[in-house]
Amino acid sequence: MSAAKDRIALAADLPLAQALSVYGQVAPFVGVAKVGLSLFVEHGPAAVVAFQERGARVFLDLKLHDIPNTVGLAAERAGQLGVAYLTIHAAGGLAMIRAAVEGAAKGAASVGKAPPQILAVTVLTSMSDESLASVGVAGRALEQVDRLAGLALSGGAAGVVCSPREAQLLRVKLRAGAVICTPGIRPEGSAADDQARAETPAAAIHAGASLLVVGRPIYASADPLAAARSIEAEVALTLGRA
Ligand code: C5P
Repeated sequence: MSAAKDRIALAADLPLAQALSVYGQVAPFVGVAKVGLSLFVEHGPAAVVAFQERGARVFLDLKLHDIPNTVGLAAERAGQLGVAYLTIHAAGGLAMIRAAVEGAAKGAASVGKAPPQILAVTVLTSMSDESLASVGVAGRALEQVDRLAGLALSGGAAGVVCSPREAQLLRVKLRAGAVICTPGIRPEGSAADDQARAETPAAAIHAGASLLVVGRPIYASADPLAAARSIEAEVALTLGRA
């Protein structure tokens, strides 16, 4: 990961035609397109291919969580699609994380493509300390994030997905080079929407984030191209100063 645009993933949570249109506009400043569950359930691999045809590296956000064999098989298919990133839930355990990494590598190798980087979700930001307790996880969410991030990296994952507020802790604790992917990005002066703990692009990069997932600040902007240009410039400037 180097150029600022490769640090920005567009989360165009829109119907496919509109999502492709937004990506087409902002592609000079955004190198990655996130294909999430709704696009994939509706269109399958065609959604991935459509973004790839427009020059995007694809972040396939399926948050896989099942027995190791099943996750391994799904990751193998994702590897064959040539996606750049694939998400899983670290809570699936070490064997499942390993199966995802191995499956993705096998699938990619079978078609001569580079393997996807496996990013593990630690604790969903929708989970509070109380909701974690209700599913049997004692202690604070941050401790669980720390524990699961360590597990993810031990299992061979390339990195984790976490809030920008957690990035700082994980950047210190995880090995150098681990990918830290953060949604919840809001440029100065933009609407927070439903993100309770948002950070600016500069703050997220300072905290150690390597990949920023940005949705509404770009696609719901009156001028998506200008919004993307401004975010890319902020990331480039911050990286230059780091
Ligand atoms: O529009 P916005 O920038 O808030 O979009 C953020 C994207 O990141 C959405 O696709 C959302 O589902 C995703 N996401 C998130 N918080 C998480 C994990 C994923 O906002 N903890």
